[in-house]
Amino acid sequence: MTILVTGGAGYIGSHTVRALVELGRDVVVLDTLELGIRSRLGSTPLVEGDIRDERLVEKTVRKYGVTDVIHFAAYKAVGESMEQPLRYWSNNVAGTISLVHSLLANGVERLVFSSSAAVYGNPEHVPVTEEAPLRPESVYAETKSTMESFLTSCDAIGLRSVSLRYFNAAGASDDAVIGEDWSHSQNLVPRVMKAMLGASGPLQVFGNDYPTQDGTCIRDYIHVVDLADAHIKALDYLATGGKSIACNVGTGMGTSVLEIIDMAEQVSGRKVPYEFAPRRAGDPTTVFADPTLVRAILGWKATRDLRDIVGSAWEWHSHSYKPA
Ligand code: WQD
Repeated sequence: MTILVTGGAGYIGSHTVRALVELGRDVVVLDTLELGIRSRLGSTPLVEGDIRDERLVEKTVRKYGVTDVIHFAAYKAVGESMEQPLRYWSNNVAGTISLVHSLLANGVERLVFSSSAAVYGNPEHVPVTEEAPLRPESVYAETKSTMESFLTSCDAIGLRSVSLRYFNAAGASDDAVIGEDWSHSQNLVPRVMKAMLGASGPLQVFGNDYPTQDGTCIRDYIHVVDLADAHIKALDYLATGGKSIACNVGTGMGTSVLEIIDMAEQVSGRKVPYEFAPRRAGDPTTVFADPTLVRAILGWKATRDLRDIVGSAWEWHSHSYKPA
């Protein structure tokens, strides 16, 4: 009963590995370490390699007695995906096909997949339900939506899967031991931290003329530890016979960019240097989840609020950042 976590040395992966280990589950991580960080794993076994290496995956499954998989390994930078589509299709889509091929050949029939709310694109209605049409607006999002369809079709050959459509993951472990690596992130919370700690220039707030209360965009920020817990609930759902499904993982609460800045100032006691900049191409105005399905099917709900998210990010970044 071992869980294989691909991309387990990444940001969300490593928080999930930690949660599994804390529950006493057996885990093995498969990660290229191209973007993953070994020290996030503590003493959890790591196989360094690629999901496209079928021989390596098969060997790992047999050696560790893998029964379940959580599949994080993928590239995830939206802008980069438009410039380097081949890299994204190859790693994300061809990689997933290859992985599933090796898993099924070795009798592994349960998989939890790291999907994204990006599959909805710019949704017409909020809160967003799983019935909303999938309208990916980047190569990255298209690869996620394609991987979801691929997994759904694999039902017919015995693979059951849960695709978790993450909203905006942020924050760090409660003890500030692991967190996000801001050097590879374009996301708001790490950028706020970077600006606050003087590791970058002022934060650029992309647009203050949106039709929202304060003119800035609204998103559904979810604590990475809550998100990790959703994966465990999804594994347990599949282990008790649950059928394949895709569900949102969000809080159902919308927060604006300026509200994030305000919370960062509250938890740190510092000022966030920021300036207004033009809108970022492709940014939808308001996106937040309807989390009804994930609650009903997986029994999951967020337990941490915005203060926990931004506070844990602050603890992590302020302790790990060493100015030159
Ligand atoms: C949040 C808000 C920005 C940076 C992306 C992906 C999505 C998912 C999560 C993986 C927006 C604003 C940001 C900055 C800013 N990733 N912002 N200044 O765009 O909602 O979602 O990450 O699955 O697929 O698209 O997240 O953190 O980039 O932006 O003003 O320097 O913060 O405009 O309104 P986004 P984000």
